[in-house]
Amino acid sequence: MDSTATWIAQPSLALTKYWGKLPESGRNIPASTSIAVTLAGLHSSVRATPSDTDSVELDGVLQPVQRFAPVFAAVRKAAGVETRFACAGTNSFPTAAGLASSSSGLAAMTLACLECAGLDPLSDRSLASRIAREGSGSAARALWGGFTRWLRGSAVAEPLHGPEFWPELRVFVVIVSGRAKPVGSREAMEHARVTSSGWQAWLDGEAAIADRATRALATRDLEGLGTAMRESYLSMFATMFTSKPPVIYWLPESIRLIHLAAELRASGIPVWETMDAGPQVKLFTVESASDAVREALKGSVPDLAVLESRPGEGPRRIAL
Ligand code: PMV
Repeated sequence: MDSTATWIAQPSLALTKYWGKLPESGRNIPASTSIAVTLAGLHSSVRATPSDTDSVELDGVLQPVQRFAPVFAAVRKAAGVETRFACAGTNSFPTAAGLASSSSGLAAMTLACLECAGLDPLSDRSLASRIAREGSGSAARALWGGFTRWLRGSAVAEPLHGPEFWPELRVFVVIVSGRAKPVGSREAMEHARVTSSGWQAWLDGEAAIADRATRALATRDLEGLGTAMRESYLSMFATMFTSKPPVIYWLPESIRLIHLAAELRASGIPVWETMDAGPQVKLFTVESASDAVREALKGSVPDLAVLESRPGEGPRRIAL
């Protein structure tokens, strides 16, 4: 029987950030609570085929398999099989550039492998979230569409609201640079935990920020959510700027876009930015203001590619 399976997942963009792991509590157990939205229109697709050995290919390039070993092992354990998996993935957007490609990639890979191992992968999304987390923390959240939460100390994320909860929300993803970043997020967060003088301040502040974001999200209050988002990403970057040596993902256009958002807000257009471990800037607004934001981006950063997104659906199987 051919048990090849292909799954698609969309990236999970954090409104409040997962940044740092709790040491000695298992793989990728977060030191902070993250709230996230699954983005429509960007996707990772992964095909898993039974094989003699485990392997992973991304956009045609063979990847070091070590990184994925915990996912393969967890799938085999869950399914009670010895199957090895050959995985082949593609991203519809730049990889490893701070666009959450690891969240969608690992979520799609987990589901494809679970199916390949004979399980119905969405029958237990929490199990899939737990396994995907072993490959990339943020992937724990990419198992659901709409809005998710992953609590500090938890092995598994949870759904908060479906994509239909806030259909007017728009996210402009501005690609400041499509190059893969020099330092990966897992390395940068561990480096910050160990060397940043601001680490304790991050830990002390993150829970209140996530609470504010959760409450603002529940009432679709963009300004309340925006201020919490801003505090979260800037507190996260504060730990990078105070790491030894510092990690600086920002590029001149990143700062330009942060100022652009502030100028737009000052002129009455609701738009709030966030950034992840990379130079890209993601701008949150609502449908009624999206023409104004699009025009402002054309005027301010005409050479940069912009992806327009909104809350998206959860993962789906592709029938080949
Ligand atoms: O899942 P990882 O190991 O790629 O880390 C993701 C870290 C951030 O994107 C910066 C924040 C987040 O919550 O997604």
